[in-house]
Amino acid sequence: MPSKRKILATQALPYANGTPHLGHMVGMIQTDIWVRLQKMRGHDCLFVCGSDSHGTPIMIQAEKMGLTPETLIEQIRHEQEKDFADFYIEFDNYHTTHSPENQELVGVIFKRHRDQDNICKRTITQLFDPVKNMFLPDRYIKGECPHCSAKDQYGDNCEVCGGTYSPTDLKNPYSTLSGAKPIEKQSEHYFFKLQNYEGFLKEWTRHGHLQEQVTNKLDEWFKEGLKEWDISRDKPYFGFLIPGEQDKYFYVWLDAPVGYIASFKKLCERRPDLNFNEYWGKDSSVELIHFIGKDIIYFHALFWPAILHGAHFRTPTQIIVNGFLTIDGQKMSKSRGTFIKARTYLNHLQPEYLRYYFAAKLSDRIEDLDIHFDDFTNRINADLVGKFINIASRCASFINKHFDSQLTAECPEPDLYQTFAQAGDDIAEKWESMNFSQAIRQIMALADRANQYIDEKKPWAMIKDPEQRPQVHAVCSMGMNLFRVLMIYLKPVLPHTAKQVETFLKVPPLQWNDKDKPLLNHTIGEFQPLMSRIDPKQIEAMKMATKEEMQPAASNNNNAEKIAPPAPEAKKEFISIDDFAKVDLRVAKILEAAAVEGADKLLRLIVDIGSDEKRQIFAGIKSAYQPEELIGRHVVIVANLEPRKMRFGVSEGMVLAAGPGGKDLWVISPDPGAEAGSKVK
Ligand code: MSP
Ligand code: ZN
Repeated sequence: MPSKRKILATQALPYANGTPHLGHMVGMIQTDIWVRLQKMRGHDCLFVCGSDSHGTPIMIQAEKMGLTPETLIEQIRHEQEKDFADFYIEFDNYHTTHSPENQELVGVIFKRHRDQDNICKRTITQLFDPVKNMFLPDRYIKGECPHCSAKDQYGDNCEVCGGTYSPTDLKNPYSTLSGAKPIEKQSEHYFFKLQNYEGFLKEWTRHGHLQEQVTNKLDEWFKEGLKEWDISRDKPYFGFLIPGEQDKYFYVWLDAPVGYIASFKKLCERRPDLNFNEYWGKDSSVELIHFIGKDIIYFHALFWPAILHGAHFRTPTQIIVNGFLTIDGQKMSKSRGTFIKARTYLNHLQPEYLRYYFAAKLSDRIEDLDIHFDDFTNRINADLVGKFINIASRCASFINKHFDSQLTAECPEPDLYQTFAQAGDDIAEKWESMNFSQAIRQIMALADRANQYIDEKKPWAMIKDPEQRPQVHAVCSMGMNLFRVLMIYLKPVLPHTAKQVETFLKVPPLQWNDKDKPLLNHTIGEFQPLMSRIDPKQIEAMKMATKEEMQPAASNNNNAEKIAPPAPEAKKEFISIDDFAKVDLRVAKILEAAAVEGADKLLRLIVDIGSDEKRQIFAGIKSAYQPEELIGRHVVIVANLEPRKMRFGVSEGMVLAAGPGGKDLWVISPDPGAEAGSKVK
């Protein structure tokens, strides 16, 4: 075992304008598992975090809710702390960027840079809302796309044609806050001269602090050339005033990462044994690891090291980037009802299921990871409960019932035990290097091995023969010992189960090195069920609850996401045959198919529905089909759907298709031989 390391780990500070969702949990859980591993291995590892409490969205959100920003950020901070605690995320400190510690540190950093001429002032022109009396960040400006004239497009790119542009190029722009037409207005801003650190950054980014994919991404940015970074915002703004100014504030992204330092500083108040300079001074030898999501690489891998280095603070040892969470293969979305809040999950499912599932999917690469709920249920039920927990449930009751809860004095199968104990070095290395999915795979292979051992020995059969009692004792003691080793390996992922197991085994908190010595001649407690299977009904209930929350009245999130659709009708389980008979389903033959100008998802189809009748249908299947491949195909349509007037013409029916969407969409076709006009029954 290497000598004791000193480590400070951080996780990106979640914004204080919305409650945590499952996307936030990816990085939180990854960091927590890693930190718990370090602690279990005897290292001195601290974990600090907090809420990112400044910026325009928070100010606007507070205004909408009729709160002061200070009240809002405190409310959200408490929700965050509660949600994270309930997922067993264990911080050494959870702070806020709106704190005196942070303000002081930002002041020091700013001054050090200004003294070195790294800050300049310049007048720029921006869009301004004359009704709200404020400059408008891009996300609050909409208008017509300068390329395709699509309406209601955001300030930087068009969702219809995919074009990119700057907000000042939008036609008929309007402020989403007031509806007013923005005017152009000038103002003086502060800039950080990032380009002064080009040499330093080119060095730094190639010295093992970053994953390879990140280094490659940075190379692209270097090629484009580093630009000055705008670090100020005009009033009204919720943030820290720039020293010497009355109405200019630091941009939220300047003080946000300083929040890591502030959170640590606050921790020092409670922990006089900690020395601030040892952790943050220029020559610190403490390992500093920032865990972040892939959308905030630029801030952490370029600005942040430059800001720290120039202000004579230490720079990060490593930045670990996680990919994004998707649900059933798609981006989390309010309108699809997949924007699952951490709290909603907790109301229906055990936190350790999600910890395990994420662990089983995370790697050291920046890949998006998907929750597919059938797979989720299956992994938990088959692996975690069916394999791992099962070992204990198979053996413990025999020990309790027939052997006075006493484990054997000798290790019955020393070789098998050694195999398990020795695998620990490999597994630790996998946890250590963020290859979580590989660690889980190796642990589950050992669980298979343990189950196989019990299957071969069949204690449930042997117990019927009094002469074989010693063998039953041996097998079950061995089973319990193998289970204990696996519990050690899974403890960073399953801290709550580990605690229950420690109580039941009557042992002190398990440490990594406990794997080397089996538990012998020891009395265990009464076995209690440790974890139950997921009932698919729980998943359904969580999904329903999520959909209900997303109804406009209940939604208080100001995310740039689109407004949720109106409440779906109360869900009935069955429809009558008469209900079904109302739907006129018919086989139709596609005669023409073509893309529709100005619509990125639609194809315009002309179909033959029999009796010489032709229909025009706009079908949202362009992502999955080339128009040519559809011509001549037979499909199934709803023929009595109320015609719908669209921007491009009237749609007179609906083509049936199945699948989640995007490329994975399949039109429903009858077997060859079916003719246009046949009714579907
Ligand atoms: N406040 C900034 C971070 C400042 S750090 C000095 C921020 N906040 S956030 O609330 O938007 O995101 C917090 C973390 O969650 C970020 O690491 C972000 O990448 C991550 N995620 C947000 N949505 C996510 C998914 N859907 N999936 C995975 N991670 C996600 O960014
Ligand atoms: Zn466009």
